[in-house]
Amino acid sequence: MRTLAIIKPDAMASGKAGRVLAHLESAGFRVRAARLVRLSQAQAEAFYAVHRERPFFRPLVAFMTSGPCLPMALERDDAVARLREVIGATDPREAAPGTVRALYAESKERNAIHASDSPENATREVAFFFPEADLA
Ligand code: CMP
Repeated sequence: MRTLAIIKPDAMASGKAGRVLAHLESAGFRVRAARLVRLSQAQAEAFYAVHRERPFFRPLVAFMTSGPCLPMALERDDAVARLREVIGATDPREAAPGTVRALYAESKERNAIHASDSPENATREVAFFFPEADLA
């Protein structure tokens, strides 16, 4: 089973991408596709469309377009739920010790990594960045 992770612009800018990826690999995830991208405003708005009415939508889009990020299709058994566990709560102050966000996130917004929150969204989000032919 596959899910989508995005190493966000804060973690890329502070040179933590390698440590985040090592953490995910140690947790049993295999990278099936990866691509360094600078999201356009339209891409970020489309990716986060479910949050369009939320007060944090504009700052979220501004942050996600502020620098390069690293979307990755990750595979392991029960990938969606396991990745959510490994990355921890949205707000690093609430994230369990040893999770990616507890270790590497700066704040609720600059929180190092995104992960799909359901199998349906994982399918949509992997396809958003990777055509089937690009998945190894
Ligand atoms: P992510 O998993 O990428 O999905 C939506 C993002 O919105 C979330 O991580 C946070 O980085 C960001 N965000 C900012 N403020 C909030 C908030 N109050 N509640 C939820 N998500 C927020």
